[in-house]
Amino acid sequence: MKTYLKESDILLLLPELAPVAAGWLDQSDSRIYQQQNAFYLESELTGSKPLAFQFEAELNFWQGQLKQFGKKDVPLLKALGITGAHPPKHIYDLTAGMLKDSILCLAAGFKVTACERNPIVYSFIQLNLKNAAYLPDLHYQFGHCVDYLADYADQYLYFDPMFEIANKSAYSKKNMQVFKGLVGADADAQDVLSQLLASGAKRVVVKRADKAPVMAGQLHHQIKSKTLRFDVYLS
Ligand SMILES: C[S@@+](CC[C@H](N)C(=O)[O-])C[C@H]1O[C@@H](n2cnc3c(N)ncnc32)[C@H](O)[C@@H]1O
Repeated sequence: MKTYLKESDILLLLPELAPVAAGWLDQSDSRIYQQQNAFYLESELTGSKPLAFQFEAELNFWQGQLKQFGKKDVPLLKALGITGAHPPKHIYDLTAGMLKDSILCLAAGFKVTACERNPIVYSFIQLNLKNAAYLPDLHYQFGHCVDYLADYADQYLYFDPMFEIANKSAYSKKNMQVFKGLVGADADAQDVLSQLLASGAKRVVVKRADKAPVMAGQLHHQIKSKTLRFDVYLS
């Protein structure tokens, strides 16, 4: 049986969302429902399949891939400096979304602090994470990533804002239309990046579509894959 959650139900389970203005779920076209022990995200608008939480399978997939083929040719890991003299132990994933990139980083052995500002996306993920004991190295937090700027000195930051045509690899599947419709474009990304670059972070990696313009001038180098690019800024 499906049980739909109202905003007030979620606030009881996730009190950290209380400061967010009311109405974010009840006035949205998206719905979260519980079926057995899992939570799902669906949208009235797209008519696509609901989004399910399948992170154990994704983690196992990446652990298998990295064991078989190694880490050094994976573009995101390369961009984060895995082949460098001092590879990171901990990554801040500032745009957690569906946690796909966080899961890859966890499979590679990094500890990850992941941040999400959309309360519906956050609720969907966090409600499911309560049953996900297989992710002990993930710390998941709610908020705008610039709320935590003071933590970023000497750290490794990963920033993947949503653009109109970008992120094809992660969000082209039909059911991911639910996610796209919910989040929309992160129109403040340029301004956020300026603040990240001024935070004293050791390395900032920005995911871009292959042909998208560079977002800030102090670029150090780029790691390219077929449809994506990782722009790397070093301090
Ligand atoms: C393109 S998605 C990220 C996808 C993610 N890398 C993945 O693998 O699933 C962008 C996500 O970051 C969130 N976001 C964008 N800007 C943010 C910010 N400044 N602080 C926190 N979250 C942010 C959006 O709400 C959205 O869920």
